[in-house]
Amino acid sequence: MTPPSALLAIETSCDETSAAVLRRDGSRTRLASCVILSQDIHRVFGGVVPELASRAHLTTIGPVVDQALEEAGLTLDEVDGIAVTAGPGLVGALLVGVMYGRTLAARLGIPLIGVHHLEGHLFAPTLETPDLDPPFVALLVSGGHTLLLEVTAWGSYRLHGTTRDDAAGEAFDKVGTLLGLGYPGGPAIERLAATGRAGRYRFPRPMLDTLGQDGPDRFTFSFSGLKTALLRAVQSSADLEADRADLARGFQDALVEVLVAKSAALVEQLGATTLVLGGGVACNRALQEAARRRLEGQARVVVASNRLNTDNAAMIGAAGSFRLARGERAGPTLEARADLPFPGLLPSPEPLSSHR
Ligand code: KG4
Ligand code: ZN
Repeated sequence: MTPPSALLAIETSCDETSAAVLRRDGSRTRLASCVILSQDIHRVFGGVVPELASRAHLTTIGPVVDQALEEAGLTLDEVDGIAVTAGPGLVGALLVGVMYGRTLAARLGIPLIGVHHLEGHLFAPTLETPDLDPPFVALLVSGGHTLLLEVTAWGSYRLHGTTRDDAAGEAFDKVGTLLGLGYPGGPAIERLAATGRAGRYRFPRPMLDTLGQDGPDRFTFSFSGLKTALLRAVQSSADLEADRADLARGFQDALVEVLVAKSAALVEQLGATTLVLGGGVACNRALQEAARRRLEGQARVVVASNRLNTDNAAMIGAAGSFRLARGERAGPTLEARADLPFPGLLPSPEPLSSHR
């Protein structure tokens, strides 16, 4: 089955209202437009307020879709498929996009597909690196998730590691608040850390030791202890203004070291030749550079541009296009699910020792 020739994609899982159009020319899929409207209102509250997010999506979804169509030079009648984020995320926010997509698909009589938000992040780099093909290892690091995946084929994934507590982006955001940098913390910490001194604050590398243990937690992450260590350092700082950049650097170095060590170890264990970094935290240059240094001569590191790594509808279109091409269709009763499970998960890996 061929994918749609003009796919409209919609993303409303958190605090970005986004719509994109993907065009298929022959066998190649091209991004024709991508409109992302970030809801600034949440900055005032230091985090996303679900009720406000849903209301803002309701107001802006129509104009954002219209603008995406206009930028792509299309009318609604020319659209022949719709992809929409069905989860995970804030259920009220997801519902706005799902209901909008359902209604449009029914009205136009065209196929609809519900996309898992994290599978969208996984597909984002394909829009700029069309030769990206499995097998590869992927580290997906966003505000809500930290997933270390083995991608055996598109649509077929083995989950090797996840977080016990905070997601990587959540840790950046909480530390951003502790350092008085506002929301979201990630970009601000990256900027500040670039001016900080390495090694002045040496924070714990949580669960780095499990990497050498060949047990079920080999690829498990945990970031809440790191956040607590930073809180203590902030509390005992005599001059936070003077220490802030060094604190940001110490935190970022610790988190990046653990992310890179575990991802590189999985690349080596599987003999993979590609590591994909995806999700908002993958925008972090220190993370990208550390991964490239660590895997130099062993594997290439593929990362989408910042605009496609943070939440956007283009990535939802890329994943949706793949699923529609496989013949998958959502029914007219497609639902939004805050806890939508990752699709296509293979059975969990056994500890390394059982393969010997
Ligand atoms: O993928 P995303 O846009 O939304 C979710 O699905 O959650 O990721 C947002 C997260 C936020 O936690 C934000 O602080 C983080 O990505 N982030 C960064 C950077 N840019 C965004 N973290 C570290 N460094 C960055 N440059
Ligand atoms: Zn996301």
